[in-house]
Amino acid sequence: MSEATPVEDLTREDAAAELERLAKLIAEADAAYYQDDAPLMSDAEYDAARLRNAAIEARFPDLKRPDSPSDRVGASAQDGFTKAAHAAPMLSLENAFSDEDVADFVDRIRRFLGLSADEPIALTAEPKIDGLSLSLSYEKGRLKRAATRGNGDVGEDVTANARTLADIPAKLSGKDWPDFIEIRGEVYMTKQDFAALNAREEAAGRKVFANPRNSAAGSLRQLDVEITKSRPLRFFAYAWAAESAPFADSQHEAVNAFRRWGFETNPLMIRTTTVEGLLDTYRSIESQRASLPYDIDGVVYKVDRLDWQQRLGFVSRAPRWAIAHKFPAQKATTKLEAIDVQVGRTGSLTPVARLEPVTVGGVVVSNATLHNEDEIARLGVKPGDIVEIQRAGDVIPQVLRVVTDGGGKPWKMPDHCPVCGSEAVREIDDKGVADVRRRCTGGLVCPAQAVERLKHFVSRKALDIDGLGAKQIQLFHDAGVLKGPQDIFRLAAAIEAAGLPPLEEWEGFGKVSARKLFDAIDARRQVPFARFLNGLGIRHVGQTTSQLFARQFLSWETFWNTVVAAADEGEGGEAWAALVSIDGIGAAAVGALCDFEHEAHNRKMLAALLSEITIEDEARASTDSPVAGKTIVFTGTLERMTRDEAKARASALGAKVSGSVSAKTDIVVAGPGAGSKLKKAQELGVQTMTEDEWFDLIGA
Ligand code: IVH
Repeated sequence: MSEATPVEDLTREDAAAELERLAKLIAEADAAYYQDDAPLMSDAEYDAARLRNAAIEARFPDLKRPDSPSDRVGASAQDGFTKAAHAAPMLSLENAFSDEDVADFVDRIRRFLGLSADEPIALTAEPKIDGLSLSLSYEKGRLKRAATRGNGDVGEDVTANARTLADIPAKLSGKDWPDFIEIRGEVYMTKQDFAALNAREEAAGRKVFANPRNSAAGSLRQLDVEITKSRPLRFFAYAWAAESAPFADSQHEAVNAFRRWGFETNPLMIRTTTVEGLLDTYRSIESQRASLPYDIDGVVYKVDRLDWQQRLGFVSRAPRWAIAHKFPAQKATTKLEAIDVQVGRTGSLTPVARLEPVTVGGVVVSNATLHNEDEIARLGVKPGDIVEIQRAGDVIPQVLRVVTDGGGKPWKMPDHCPVCGSEAVREIDDKGVADVRRRCTGGLVCPAQAVERLKHFVSRKALDIDGLGAKQIQLFHDAGVLKGPQDIFRLAAAIEAAGLPPLEEWEGFGKVSARKLFDAIDARRQVPFARFLNGLGIRHVGQTTSQLFARQFLSWETFWNTVVAAADEGEGGEAWAALVSIDGIGAAAVGALCDFEHEAHNRKMLAALLSEITIEDEARASTDSPVAGKTIVFTGTLERMTRDEAKARASALGAKVSGSVSAKTDIVVAGPGAGSKLKKAQELGVQTMTEDEWFDLIGA
């Protein structure tokens, strides 16, 4: 695995290792940025690392780390706030996704504390609020400072803003508070307040927020305190740190104390001593989810006894005594920032929604598929809209509907490939119905498709170059020496020009195999018409169609001149008619040929190829020859014609010429100096003959 391995190709193991690397990298970058004011990387690199992390988490939700950088969304730079170091780190929570995970959590606690099976473990269960966490420092009962989570160690000082919240007391009530304590909890906005705020913002022509969480975060982190003051922010207290003296023996007592001191605490918190109790609470809270006035994304369980919490301690950045039981895949709303177009390996164009990152089922989502242009039209979605998205399991998130029209311009699918600039077309079938997919007509010249196309070009039914398969194509492509099919015939020179060692020194090659490969390539400098045409990978022009054209036109030149004419004249012209009138050839194939010819870079690529190779004319009635369909191997020195010429003649007669002997070989033609191939043929009982016998056989 390397940093560049596409997320979809990562194994589970790779993914875990990569998440670890990214968590470390991003944490270091954050520290450099926040603590040292000395960024380690560019914003683009930082964003790329975060996006990759989010993409891996989307594929493997259960591998998400307790110290996941995704949990620190919003921690990015916001100029204008002073940094504030927390008295004790603000931790995150480990996630549970199933009932089993919850039972395991309780088992782990039991084992860690060495408790017997019948010892009850009291736990609290409460909703996990989908807002942003805030740490409030109280000294002698007075609010001294409020800080956002930031990277967990250092956040932003938002004291002035926090003071505007009615739920955050400036002075604690009662008396039983420690001299110093950091009260922690969640700033959130109710769904109703969020909707009303958005309506006001929209009416005023201002930016609307994607969801209550973003709205709460954006409202709290305002440089202008007056704006924060005008926003309906609320706060639930649920945790604490760095207290100067103990003030409770259990989690529930501590939360009761918060209430006495003047904080809001969540009314749904319960206490139970069984796993069943936790799961019942989870189900009950989940069933209330939609009707709760605020967004929640799971249920948090905490060991009630504080002495046990103390003993259990932490693993990396999460307590052993708490866990967040997440709700399953679900929907979220966010802003659709842009629609990008991706080109697949076979040329289909897929519109992808770039989203304002939003947490859906515990995973940060920043992309969603829009499938195709018809789907975009059906949804009526445009950049700038607030959309509802859905994520289920490992599947790519989808855009479900437009929630709020952002007033942007309608989006139009590009009619040219964003990667190579070739025309991108929707095919129309016999019934006049357009294909839902738009495809790039660039084929071999399109970098997005190059590797797949090259693999096809050298495949058995196309150029069939011995020793040059999918693996080698990938290798040469990755090494940067193979961009288009013409490069195959300039491989040695391209390797040298790239400053790479000669092929024989590459891993997996040697003098012999390198030589063999170059020989096999050279042997294909003369290639049968049909194989060549099939190799181009033009849509609807596969093996059979290529064969039909070859039989009809015999000469590549005549054929291609007709294609050029058809492309010029268009449908209805003479050349077009000549092509579609061939038995078995349809308008789709002819249309695709013309589309191909229309592209200047295709013409350039063809010219480059033809400067390297010769396309053999199709021999008439070649199937009648005695060697048609047979596999022939030439070995040793041929005296009556060159090896290339012999191969060309054999191919013209419908034989298949191969470079190596196997049980599938029909005839080995051996000249003087023949060695291992001849020996192998004899061992395998393959028919062998001299050059003269060969010419007798083919009647030359
Ligand atoms: S307890 C040491 N309780 O979830 C444990 N966290 O994924 C501290 N959160 O950063 C957290 N509701 O912002 C706790 N009832 C709740 C919560 C809660 C929401 C958030 C909090 C934390 C994140 C962890």
